[in-house]
Amino acid sequence: MSTAAPDRAMDAAVIAARTREDVVIGNEIVRHRRASRWIHWLVAATFFLALFTGMPIWTPIFGWMSSFFGGLATCRVLHPWFGVAFFVFSLVMFFHWLTDMRILPSERGWLGPKALEYMRFQTDIEDVGKYNGGQKLFFFAVSLGALGLLVTGLLMWFPLSFPVVLRELGFILHDLTFILFAVGIVGHIYLGTAAEPGTFGSMVRGTVTRQWARLHHPGWYREVTGEAARRR
Ligand code: HEM
Repeated sequence: MSTAAPDRAMDAAVIAARTREDVVIGNEIVRHRRASRWIHWLVAATFFLALFTGMPIWTPIFGWMSSFFGGLATCRVLHPWFGVAFFVFSLVMFFHWLTDMRILPSERGWLGPKALEYMRFQTDIEDVGKYNGGQKLFFFAVSLGALGLLVTGLLMWFPLSFPVVLRELGFILHDLTFILFAVGIVGHIYLGTAAEPGTFGSMVRGTVTRQWARLHHPGWYREVTGEAARRR
């Protein structure tokens, strides 16, 4: 059996995903155009570079990580600059996605038990648009966390410019924020890969299948295709 037709549709979708999103091409829907994907991966890359150069500075338990960057002294120089780059890309991502991430009144419950219900497939997701409430909250948490890490990082980078009490507070808040951040990112990676197959492709090729969209984001599916989504 020839697979030429689906392949052509996929190629056309990948090409469209360079500049456009929310368009349907055959069985594919463009979810993230190239600019969005580049911004996301620059945020992710600088996050991990800052994380892995920061952990050996944080505690000797992770001292071995410093050898990947040329030693602890190099990590101390690189870490704040990776941190600044992470903040700059996070700022770009914030303004890039802000319109899509507006939290609707019906999504406020995601701060409470709705997130757990979603993980247990118990919640009605019929109205879920391009991003669900949990993704929107994650987006705002990441943006706030990036700002928090920058401010507390600056307190430690220029210790003599600030009162001791602020500097000490900076240490505690920087560590606390990065630990919460790292835990959140583990959950994010799980949801973006193993938990929901087909999601990772949206950040690589830019596209998802109609079936994926109908299952996870029926409101968005209806919006882009004009069809009624099937109930779960
Ligand atoms: C290897 C690491 C990562 C993987 C595999 C990954 C994967 C993904 C995927 C597949 C999406 C699209 C979800 C969708 O379209 O529904 C996404 C979105 C997003 N990612 Fe990541 N990501 C990673 C790292 C990060 C990091 C480090 C950050 C921030 C510091 C981040 C922030 C975001 C945000 C804010 C969104 C939009 C909201 C959401 O979909 O949750 N990602 N990621």
